Amino acid sequence: MYGITISSSFGPMPETVDRLFIHCKELVPLMDGPPCGARRGEAMRSVDVIEDGAIAVRDGRVVAIGTTSEISAAYDANDVLDLTDTVVIPGFVDCHTHPAFAATREEEFHLRCAGADYMEIASKGGGILSSVRAVRAIGEDALTERVLLHFDKFIAHGTTTIEAKSGYGLDTASEVKSLRALTRAMAEHPLTVSRTFLGAHEVPMEYRERRDDYVDLVIDEMLPAVDRLCESCDVFAEPKVFDAVRSERILSAAKVRGLRLRVHADEIEPMGGAELAVALGADSADHLAVVSEAGIAALAGSETTAVLLPGTSFYLGKHRHAPARKMLEAGCAVALASDFNPGSCYTMSMPLIVSLACVLLHMTPAECLCATTINPAASLGLDAEVGTLHPGKRADFVALDLPSWKGLGYVFGGNPVLMTVKDGEVFGV
Ligand code: NIG
Ligand code: FE
Repeated sequence: MYGITISSSFGPMPETVDRLFIHCKELVPLMDGPPCGARRGEAMRSVDVIEDGAIAVRDGRVVAIGTTSEISAAYDANDVLDLTDTVVIPGFVDCHTHPAFAATREEEFHLRCAGADYMEIASKGGGILSSVRAVRAIGEDALTERVLLHFDKFIAHGTTTIEAKSGYGLDTASEVKSLRALTRAMAEHPLTVSRTFLGAHEVPMEYRERRDDYVDLVIDEMLPAVDRLCESCDVFAEPKVFDAVRSERILSAAKVRGLRLRVHADEIEPMGGAELAVALGADSADHLAVVSEAGIAALAGSETTAVLLPGTSFYLGKHRHAPARKMLEAGCAVALASDFNPGSCYTMSMPLIVSLACVLLHMTPAECLCATTINPAASLGLDAEVGTLHPGKRADFVALDLPSWKGLGYVFGGNPVLMTVKDGEVFGV
C-alpha cells in the first residue's frame, strides 16, 4: 500500500477519509515512476497493475492506493463505492483542444468526403474562418454555455484535465470573448483547464493581403489584452499561414509577456516548426506529421513535449502520420491529445485517440497510458497535481469497461467510460 496510516498505542486504527473506491478489477496508478516529469523510452513501457485495487480519497485528493484488503483495513469512510469489473486509470489529460467554438461544420465534412482538401477549403474562406464568423456573431453568455457543453462531454469521456485554446475570434474583442468564456466555464465546471491564446490560428480575411499587419495586431493589441486570461500562447506555424519568421515574432513576444508556449508545428508542410518550438523553450510542439530528422533530434534533447494528434491525420484522410516510433526511440517526451475542434477533428474521446495511436502510430497501449496522463500533464506544468495517482495528487481517475488494462486501444468505437472521478467527486456516464 502507498500512503500514510496512523496508529495508536492500541494498534493500528482505521483513519477516516471521505470516500473509498474498492474492488477495482485492475487499478493502474502509474506509480512505478516518479510522480512528476514526463516519461521517456523504456519508462513509458512499464505498467503497475494492482488487482482488486482500492483508492482512499479525502478533500478531493488521493490519500492512499493499495489492494482492497489493505485499504479497507487502514481506512474508514461513510461513502464506499464498489468498482467491481472496472479497470481504473488516472483521468485522461488532453493537452490540445479547441473547445471555444460556436457552431459545428458538418457541411465542410461533406465537402471533404466528396474530395475537397482541408487547406483548399481554408484558402476559400471556409474552415477556420467559418468558425470565426460564428464566434464573432455570438454573445459571451451563449459562447460560455457552448463551452460548458463541451466540458461536460470531456468528463463523459474520462478526461479530467484539458488545455483549451481560443483562436476562432481573430480580432481583439472576439479573442478576449473566447478566453473570458473559457474562464467563466472553468469557474462553473469541475474540469481542470489550462487556457491558451491562439490569436494566430489563421489570418483573417481582412488581413490576407497584409499579413504582417495582422502579426503586429496580435503582438501589440491582442497579447496585452489577453495575457491575464490565459497561461500559454500558441501559433499555427505553417508556411502558408504563419511562416517561421512570423511565428517566431509572435511566440517571442508572448514569452516576454510571461506566457508559456505551445506550437502547432510541422502539420501539413515541413517548416522547422519543431526546431522553432525547442529553440523558444516551448512546452510542446504539436501535430508533427511532417517533422524533420533534425526536428526529432531537437525534441529528443529538450524538455519540449511532442504532442501527437492521430485523430486529426485520420479525420483529414492523410496517409502520413507523425513518426511516433522514431520519436519514442530517439527519447522524445511523447504525449497524445484529441485536437477536439469543429473542423479537423470532432472527437473528445481519448480512448478513441489511443486506438488510433496504436493502429496508425504503432504505439503500444502501455506507451499510450503515459502519453495520455503524466506526459501531457507535464507539458502543461500540472504534473504535481494530476497525471498519476500518487498520494497527494488530485483524485482524478476513470473507471473503464475493459477486459483488462491491455484492452485500452483494443476496444474501440464505443465509450468504455463507466465513471469519471474528478477531485474525488463521481460523475456517472
Ligand atoms: O489543430 N491546424 C489548425 N488548427 C486546428 C484546426 C481547426 C479547425 O479546422 O477549426 C488543428 O487541426
Ligand atoms: Fe489544433
